[in-house]
Order: sequence, then C-alpha cells, then structure tokens
Amino acid sequence: MLKHWTLVTLTLAVFAARGDANSGSCGRQKPNFIFIMTDDQDSHLNSLDYQLVVQKQFIQMGTSFKKHFCTVALCCPSRVSLLTGRAAHNTNVTDVNPVSGYTKFIAEGLNDNYLPVWLQAAGYNTYYAGKLMNGQTPATYNNPFAAGWTRSDFLLDPNTYIFNNATMVLDNGSVETHTGKYSTDLIANRSVEFLGDAINSKKPFFLGITPIAPHSETLLTPSGPIFKAPVPADRHKDLFPDAKVPRTPNFNPDVPGSVNYFATLPRLTDDQVQYNDDYYRRRLQSLQAVDDLVSAVISKLESHPEVLANTYLFYTSDNGYHIGQHRLPPGKSCNTEEDINIPFIVRGPGIAAGKVATFPTSHTDIVPTLFELAGIPLHENFDGQPIPLTKKSQKSNKQKQEHVNVEFWGEGIMEGTLYSHLADQVSKNTYKTLRVVAENYDFSYTVWCTNEHELYDMKTDPYQMKNLYGSKAATSSFNIPDLTERLDSLLLTLKSCKGKSCRQPWETLFPSGEVQNLQHAMKKKYDSFFKSQERVSFSACLKGYITSAEGSLHSEPYAGKLADGEFEARWEDWV
Ligand SMILES: *[C@@H]1O[C@H](CO)[C@@H](O)[C@H](O)[C@H]1NC(C)=O
Ligand SMILES: *[C@@H]1O[C@H](CO)[C@@H](O)[C@H](O)[C@H]1NC(C)=O
Ligand SMILES: *[C@@H]1O[C@H](CO)[C@@H](O)[C@H](O)[C@H]1NC(C)=O
Ligand SMILES: *[C@@H]1O[C@H](CO)[C@@H](O)[C@H](O)[C@H]1NC(C)=O
Repeated sequence: MLKHWTLVTLTLAVFAARGDANSGSCGRQKPNFIFIMTDDQDSHLNSLDYQLVVQKQFIQMGTSFKKHFCTVALCCPSRVSLLTGRAAHNTNVTDVNPVSGYTKFIAEGLNDNYLPVWLQAAGYNTYYAGKLMNGQTPATYNNPFAAGWTRSDFLLDPNTYIFNNATMVLDNGSVETHTGKYSTDLIANRSVEFLGDAINSKKPFFLGITPIAPHSETLLTPSGPIFKAPVPADRHKDLFPDAKVPRTPNFNPDVPGSVNYFATLPRLTDDQVQYNDDYYRRRLQSLQAVDDLVSAVISKLESHPEVLANTYLFYTSDNGYHIGQHRLPPGKSCNTEEDINIPFIVRGPGIAAGKVATFPTSHTDIVPTLFELAGIPLHENFDGQPIPLTKKSQKSNKQKQEHVNVEFWGEGIMEGTLYSHLADQVSKNTYKTLRVVAENYDFSYTVWCTNEHELYDMKTDPYQMKNLYGSKAATSSFNIPDLTERLDSLLLTLKSCKGKSCRQPWETLFPSGEVQNLQHAMKKKYDSFFKSQERVSFSACLKGYITSAEGSLHSEPYAGKLADGEFEARWEDWV
C-alpha cells in the first residue's frame, strides 16, 4: 500500500514538473503570446483604417472586440492596471508624474507582483521592447530594475516621446541615447531579435512590444510637458495629405457639453481646427512605422509555422484619444467614448477570423485571459476575468459581465501648443464612469468630482450629445430616474470593489444571486432598495485616490436593507 502511494506521488510530481515548465493539461506546449500595444491610439477617429498591415494581419485574421475599454484613460495607470489585472483604485498607481509612475509602482510592491514575474514562474520566457511605464528614467530604472524579464529594451524618460532621440536601456545594461534613429524602428528591430531568441529557447514565451506612436512628440521639461504633433518616420512624412479628423456630430459642435469644463469650452477656431487636422495626419503617418513593425514581427513568426500555430497575437492601445470632439483640443484623460473605448484585436488558435465581438471587455481582463490560455490558476484578487476569445468559449454558457468601471484622478490633459490657456479650466478631471453594455441596452454614466452627472444612452446617442441625467422620461424602455438609481448603486459598488466584487458586483448588491444584470435590477420591487442607497459623491476634486474625499465607499447589500414587513415575510420563509 505504502509502496503504491509512493509511486503515484512520484508520477504526479514528475507530471506536474513537466506540466509547469512547458505544457498545458493536454501535454501540448503552453501557447506563446505576442502583445503589441500602441500609445494613445484611438478606435473612434478611424486610425485603424489607415493601417493596412493591421487590417490584414489582425482585423481579417482575428476577432475585433468592439466594446473593449481601458479602465483609466492615461498611460501609466492603464498599463499598471493591465499588467496586474487589477483596477487602478487597487494598485493606487493613478498618475503619470515621476513620483506616481515607476517609483509608485515599486513603492506599492507591484514589481514582484505583475505579469512577467507570474509568467516566468509558470515556465515562460518573457521579453519586452518599448515603453513599460512613465517615470522609468536613467535615475530610477535600476533602483530596482523592472523584474521578471528574460530580455528587455525599455524606453526611458525624459526622451520616451522623442521620436528621433530615444533613450533606452537594454537588458539591465547601461543607458544609451539613439540620436537620429527612429524610435519605432529601433523597437521593431529589437522585437524581431527577441522573437528569434524566444523561438530558439524552445520555451513558451511572452513578447511585449510597445512603440510610442501615435503619442505626441513630448518634451518632458521640469516645468511640465510640452506636447507637439507626433513625428512620423521620414519615409512616411508625406502620406495622407487630405486626411482630416472625422467630422462626426460631436466634432466641434454648436452646443458645448453639459457638465464641468465641457460646458465652458469655447468653439475651436478655424485655425485650431486646421492645426488639429495636421496633428491628426501626423498621428496616422506615425502609425505607418507600427505597420512596418507588425509586418516584420509576423514575417519572422511565419518562418516558424509550428510556433505561429501556437501563438496568440494581441493588438491594442493603452488608452484612446480625442481631437476636437465636444470642442476638446487633442488629448486623452476624459470619460468620453473616444478616450476609453479602444482597439483590441486578437488572433490565434481557435479564434474566429474577421469577426467582431460586441460584449464588453477591458484591460483588467487581459492578464486573467492570458492565465486561462496558459493554464495558470487565476488569482482571487484579479478584478477582471478571462475574456472568452475562442468560438468554443463564446458558445459555452460562460456569462461575461456587462459592466466596465472607468476611473480617473487628476487633471485633464490638453495637448498641442495652442491650448495652454485651458490648463486651469480643465483641472477638475476626477470622475467615476460606469459603462453597461448588453444586447438591448448600452449606457454611459458618470459622476464628476464636482458632483455633476452624465447619463448617455449609447444605443440612440453614440456621440454623447444629449445628457439624460435628471430627465423624467424613458430611454431604451427604462424609466430614467429608476435607471439612474440602479446605475449609481452599481457604480457605488464598483468604485471601491476588490476581486470578486469587481467581477460580480450584482452579487455584492444581491448576495442571494437573484439579480445578475441591469435588466433584473430594474424590477419594480427593488425600487425602495435602490432609493435607500447612498449616492456616489465627492467632497473635493483631488489628484489622487484619497478616500476621504470620495463620499460613501460601499453599497449596502439587499438582505441588509429589509423593510419591517419584508423582514417578517422572510422570517416566515426561513423558519
Ligand atoms: C533585470 O533585473 C531584474 C531584477 O533583478 C530581473 O528580474 C530581470 O530579469 C533583469 N532583466 C534582464 C533583461 O536581465
Ligand atoms: C538627445 O538626447 C540627449 C539626452 O537627453 C541630449 O543630450 C541631446 O542633446 C539630444 N540630441 C538631440 C539632437 O536632440
Ligand atoms: C533595423 O535593422 C535594419 C536591418 O538590419 C537596419 O538596416 C536598420 O538601420 C535598423 N534600424 C534602426 C533604427 O536601427
Ligand atoms: C494612494 O496613494 C496616495 C499617495 O500617493 C495616498 O495618499 C493615498 O492614501 C493612497 N490611497 C489609498 C486608498 O491607499
């Protein structure tokens, strides 16, 4: 008997060791991941239409997730959230300043607790070329080094956004400034080299590729950043001479927005519109070198068909971008759809080609998704959940949640050299936004730190022109006051959620499980429950996650709020 057990244990141990190093449960090598992320690329200003390689290699060969959101519309918090699978309010990396970027990431203990470290522990080789996060500088990058990378080539501030004078650090070596070389091409060459190493190593691999385009050419000066139009590679500088910002209904409209600084923005002048169109064209041109990068990486991969067949490729951006919508200068950081709804396209084994998925997904879902594909157990404190990528997983009864929680603390970011006079005006940019997206309804709800509100019915008003907050009417067959109470309670639950309460907020509100989505929550019998909740509110507009300024922090669960009669009725059920 004893002998028998020893044998079993031994076999299991050997099996587990092999499984850990290389293979998934069916003995196949764990899949590889190539993760390409641009900087500030939009989904709503049609930038993808100008990238023929991304069209061919991603959009035609993979699935486009049209309702994919970043959960913070700013590089550093968005990237840290993505790399940890957690909301920014749980990483507390909420800004881009030197002290709140890489240094804050280290201070929060996240350098030992993020994607590459976890993937290495699961037997992966990990590679990264490009911008990891703001605040990695010649003074901070080695104090300590970013952990978890088999090889790396990071862009360093303050030259991160200088397209022809990038400062980089290769493999924890010394810092080098590449004067006169084009940043995206440097990253493309390094990515191809890393991919070669990865393929030769015969281990499963993750390769992160994060060029700067189409971010503004930005001078990080001691007195603040100066944002200019991005600089394309010389070979692309004359392309698309007629391209202009799409003149959608929300482009420089006659009527300003309804809340906060949106209500006070002046209409853009003709000169500003022209300046913005030039800016736009520079963005499109700068993305052409990204197309060349994608082409080089995929050619390399195609020369190893057996590797290609076991590789998932991702294309996304850290956050979105606006130019001229709602009269805004070029920039990000807003709660508008242009800033938060971003490209996310995935191709790989089992993923439908040329398909569009419309269920909501977010950047906090990406790490859980990679974990699931790699057969790594999910962490309890992940705020996101695996995205059903494959046709098979989409068909199975796995219900994807319908909410996305977006947050921001700090100032609105106005880019371009014509708009510095707006800096004070847009300084109150702290807000909480909830997106709820389902087959039959699609809402965007925001509470600003000024305690102003926005509610848009995205089915009927995709350009966010008509704020329905406070209306007594109905929309998408919901009564607006009742709807608003539900959305506010859901946002109250999400704004300080952790782990399961982020993934399943309706179960936090209704522990019995009787309400699983907005449609269920609309039932009349819950009216008094939702009326009795505290409301999302702020007592000040602060530049960080300071909970004392953020009003009530938790919603009350349904069971805890029984009316007298209701309690007696239930008591009878229970005894
Ligand atoms: C750099 O150093 C960190 C921390 O020691 C280590 O985890 C990482 O793998 C090193 N990176 C490279 C490319 O050697
Ligand atoms: C490139 O960057 C380095 C380091 O910041 C700086 O000293 C140098 O003047 C820059 N060169 C050009 C041509 O801008
Ligand atoms: C990238 O590699 C190619 C081919 O080796 C080379 O011609 C080119 O100069 C490199 N580009 C940069 C920016 O280093
Ligand atoms: C987040 O970090 C800031 C300092 O950067 C600190 O003041 C604040 O209390 C932290 N918030 C939470 C909720 O820990």
